[in-house]
Amino acid sequence: MIDRSASAVKPAQMPNPSRAALIDRLPKAELHLHIEGSLEPELLFALAKRNAVAIPFASVEEVRAAYSFTNLQDFLDIYYQGMSVLQTEQDFYDLTWAYLERAAADTVRHVEIFFDPQGHTERGVAFETALNGIERALIDGEAQLGISYRIIMCFLRHLSEEDAFATLDQALPHLDRIDGVGLDSSEVGHPPAKFARVFAKARKLGLHVTAHAGEEGPPEYVYEALDLLEVERIDHGNRALEDAALVSRIVGEGLTLTVCPLSNLKLCVIKDIAASPVKRMLDLGLKATINSDDPAYFGGYINANFHAVAEALDLTEAEIVQLAENSFTGSFLPVLDSARHLAEIAEVANG
Ligand code: ADE
Ligand code: ZN
Repeated sequence: MIDRSASAVKPAQMPNPSRAALIDRLPKAELHLHIEGSLEPELLFALAKRNAVAIPFASVEEVRAAYSFTNLQDFLDIYYQGMSVLQTEQDFYDLTWAYLERAAADTVRHVEIFFDPQGHTERGVAFETALNGIERALIDGEAQLGISYRIIMCFLRHLSEEDAFATLDQALPHLDRIDGVGLDSSEVGHPPAKFARVFAKARKLGLHVTAHAGEEGPPEYVYEALDLLEVERIDHGNRALEDAALVSRIVGEGLTLTVCPLSNLKLCVIKDIAASPVKRMLDLGLKATINSDDPAYFGGYINANFHAVAEALDLTEAEIVQLAENSFTGSFLPVLDSARHLAEIAEVANG
């Protein structure tokens, strides 16, 4: 007798060369990338040496071996420790430039990057040191690699509201260089409500607003992000799927979700990559996008994330094109710029 159950799962496991080639060629925007999470072990070592910062690892291999996490907090502990090697403006430049070169190789045309000012100011590195280095690399990236950009500063939600207000104050002289605010770090126990007043001030200043919600936290946190923070995008949003009314609302409001498949896998948000919610989200009419979150820690940049879900979920070429389109329509780019990228996507998809 033919074992149909076994043969039924096979096609999703088989590499599909034309689908893979499409992913590699499609223009895309990356909307969920923590620049500090792109610190590869090799650069971590080089910067530790350059700045004479002690790190608790003897080799690059040892660092990689430590990248095994059972939840978000496990990862965050190592992520904040890794940041300690970032000391000078040039360090932030080198970090950002290295990411941009990887992004260019993945045909990324636009990035909206997060940085965590409090992760630096609390260890005595000035807000401007981080911002200047990141921005200088982004300016060079736009000129030399053709990648446009936005800069989003995130508040660390495990710290206080007062600390977040102080961080927003530090941004005031630089509002022409900062496009938005986000909310990241340890989610459970630190609901969006804690930062409602900070986000109200940020909105009043004309900043875009987004927040991590529903990565580990419950659907209630996603409601709070919508109702109290008035977010324009939801970062992750996985657990929104547990609440049908919430899904209808997000679909109705046309909000984009910045999904991070390999991150979800490494942080045990999902059991295996086939459990990624990306396809379910598309089927429900949600504007899902694919992103790498902290690629140096989670095993892959944006195209690796696309390839992983495309194979595991057997995504169609139309679904892959949809994901790339969503990345531009969900970006903070003006409509005309987005339209230019959508036209390029159509050319690649039809060519
Ligand atoms: N900071 C960096 N990566 C993060 C993630 N995946 N969730 C929350 N905070 C983060
Ligand atoms: Zn994130």
